[in-house]
Amino acid sequence: MLLEVENLTVSYGDILAVRNLSFVLDQGELVSIVGANGAGKTSILNAVMGIEPSKSGKILFNGEDITRLPVHERARRGIRVVPERSRVFPRLSVYENIITGVYRLGKKVAVQTRLEWLYGIFPRLEERSGQLASTLSGGEQQQLAIARALISDPRLLLVDEVSMGLMPKLVDQVFALLRQLNKEFGLTILLVEQNAMASLKISDRGYVMEVGTCAFEGAAADLIEHPKVKEAYLG
Ligand SMILES: Nc1ncnc2c1ncn2[C@@H]1O[C@H](COP(=O)(O)OP(=O)(O)OP(=O)(O)O)[C@@H](O)[C@H]1O
Ligand SMILES: [Mg+2]
Repeated sequence: MLLEVENLTVSYGDILAVRNLSFVLDQGELVSIVGANGAGKTSILNAVMGIEPSKSGKILFNGEDITRLPVHERARRGIRVVPERSRVFPRLSVYENIITGVYRLGKKVAVQTRLEWLYGIFPRLEERSGQLASTLSGGEQQQLAIARALISDPRLLLVDEVSMGLMPKLVDQVFALLRQLNKEFGLTILLVEQNAMASLKISDRGYVMEVGTCAFEGAAADLIEHPKVKEAYLG
């Protein structure tokens, strides 16, 4: 397993955001964690990235216990996050934003080659490479946040609510792109999403969160058909 999370608990003071959650991610998988507002999705990603400490439980990456490692040590091992609302550096150009994602992963990544690969996937970012990030459209900023996370060829991409604020056509495009990165380039992806249908459709497996705990898990195709999941999340 590439990522193993065992009995993870995340809390803010008295608020238990995530309770005894366990899940796994195999190399090459695309897995979704879906759930409503406040279900604990962002807290899970923050705990995996090390932005938020885990109160209890264990996080193993590639067999190594990373539970107490700081963010930069996890980044060095190849974990990257595309944050909620695709935060980019507004006063940096598109190119400069992408370059902030360059971080040595212990393997040699030829930045120029990688940049050309990214520009092939995101031609719009190449056209706008000198433009200030704050002046990009929401959809373009979303692409930029993904490109920045991909520049160093990560081993695990954590994606927080990538569909938020995008019109349906763009949501489809972004999900198609994530699927392509997974299927064609073998990138392991963990998606957290409120948009359960769109994310489960492109996923191998899924976990359905209900206020801090996992209510259902299974093959994405089965979850989409599950009556309870349909009723609660898929409309
Ligand atoms: N820094 C914080 N301080 C206090 N409470 C927090 C903090 N961050 C999150 N919470 C609480 O933890 C719970 C889970 O929040 P989290 O952001 O993980 O949910 P989410 O599933 O990502 O929601 P959304 O879909 O709205 O992004 C919520 O009840 C939230 O109010
Ligand atoms: Mg969130």
